[in-house]
Amino acid sequence: MSSYKCHLCGSPVEAVVDLHVQPLANSLLDSPDAIDQNWYNAVWAWCRQCELLQLTDVPDASIVFAGDYPYLSGQSEYMNQHFRKTAKMLYDKYDLSMGRAIEIGPNDGGILQYLSCSVLGFEPAEACWPILDEKGVPHRQMKFDLRSARETAAVWFKADVVYTANTLRSLKDLRDFFMGVLEVLNDDGVFVVEDPYIIDVVNRNEFDQFYSECVYGFTITAMQNIARMFGMEVIDVDELTDNHGGSLRWHMARVGKRPISPNVEALKVANSEFALKDKLNRFQQMIDDISVLFVDELAHLRDTGKSVVGYGATSKSVTLLNYANVDVELLPVVYDTTPSKVGKFLPGVHIPIRDAKEFADVPRDAICILFPYNHQREIFEREKGRRWLVYFPKLDYKES
Ligand code: TMP
Repeated sequence: MSSYKCHLCGSPVEAVVDLHVQPLANSLLDSPDAIDQNWYNAVWAWCRQCELLQLTDVPDASIVFAGDYPYLSGQSEYMNQHFRKTAKMLYDKYDLSMGRAIEIGPNDGGILQYLSCSVLGFEPAEACWPILDEKGVPHRQMKFDLRSARETAAVWFKADVVYTANTLRSLKDLRDFFMGVLEVLNDDGVFVVEDPYIIDVVNRNEFDQFYSECVYGFTITAMQNIARMFGMEVIDVDELTDNHGGSLRWHMARVGKRPISPNVEALKVANSEFALKDKLNRFQQMIDDISVLFVDELAHLRDTGKSVVGYGATSKSVTLLNYANVDVELLPVVYDTTPSKVGKFLPGVHIPIRDAKEFADVPRDAICILFPYNHQREIFEREKGRRWLVYFPKLDYKES
């Protein structure tokens, strides 16, 4: 048992995943000789009391999400389709024809770009503002917290649906966030959250989902506990098996305001059969095994004269590459479509990021490492005739 206390309930927590000291995933470098400034102690622990998996030493959010935060979700056609479908589903399910919706962190468009009702986004990443303007998505250029929520409820509106994707797990202060949600949510409104699902992450061995923006991993019990703390309850869940390596969509409402779908109990029953804590106890060994196999395979490819390139400079890749100690000798380059990543270097390992347009010049017999495995279908369809090295749930080769 460590001396750390649960960020939410204050109970002692038990360290279960230790990925050593890691650089912040989005602290990309301008030159290969630059010195990495931003590191954190990558230890995740388990709270037996509220079943919340959590990063013990959370790096300062103002550094993690610095002004030039490079991630753009609209780069992926799959994610665009997902947001379009989600917008339609929420519009129909909660009858938004006369309604209002708020998205926390729409990034470069999110669901708001597809909703034909009154909408408002909260987006602190500067790179996204001109894109949201271009798409005609009204937004406040600030992060969402209790303060900005109170002001919004007074000056703008309260919403029937408040939606957020891939943000909740990156916020240490869940209290401030949930209190803010209650401020901007109508009395019978619904708070809808999407995040990678910790059961899927662990089941599929995806330890690279643990990076500097991952403060929490939610089980259904954890989410029910959190909702209860704020006078809410989980009223429905949707399994999103293809999103970010396996995600869950949680629907929450104030207690008693909405019927509870049988999906909630069904998921609880299904997951009680999956002993997450037992699997977590074996997770570290599995992480070490995969890392060793991965680095051995890269060394073997190098020693046999194979050319190897990476595809997708994901945040996730930073965890794997640093933990396995992969350097430019083993992986000389990673290609990526994100303009603000191109020309930079991955933190810690200093591997250069090149424009994905140049990927076409990579010899056909090269081995390509697929880092955004959550976008496999889309990438394989576009980049046909390649041989790929994948590493989850186990090291394997695939052809596109
Ligand atoms: P994500 O896994 O967090 O969605 O990040 C995806 C990263 O992969 C992002 O840096 C963009 C990059 N990427 C490509 O380079 N090409 C692609 O086709 C896709 C879908 C993503």
